[in-house]
Amino acid sequence: MPVLTILPSGHTLTVAEGISILSALLDASEKIEKKCEGDGKCGSCHIFVHDGRKTVSKMQRAENERLDSIVGVGSKSRLACQTMLGTENVTIELLGFNSGL
Ligand code: FES
Repeated sequence: MPVLTILPSGHTLTVAEGISILSALLDASEKIEKKCEGDGKCGSCHIFVHDGRKTVSKMQRAENERLDSIVGVGSKSRLACQTMLGTENVTIELLGFNSGL
C-alpha cells in the first residue's frame, strides 16, 4: 500500500489505492479545509503534490478550470478531492489554513 507523506507536519499515512487524497486525510483526522462535498467546486482543498505526481490520477478538465481561478496555483497544484492515489508513494503539502501554521 502506498504511503502518503504530509508536509509541513511530516505525518505519514499508509493509504488505500484508488481513494482520493482528501478521503485519506479525513479518514486520518488530518486538518484540511473542505467547503463543498468534495466534488471539486470550492477549491478549498488546494494542495501541492511534490512527489508521486505520475502515480496519482490525471487532472480532468473541470479540476484544471477550478484551479485556474485560485490564487497561488503552480505546476504542482491539485485539488485533494479530485486526486486519486495510485500504487506509489506520494508527498503532498497542505497550504495556507490547511498547513496548521
Ligand atoms: S473539497 Fe471542494 S474542491 Fe475539493
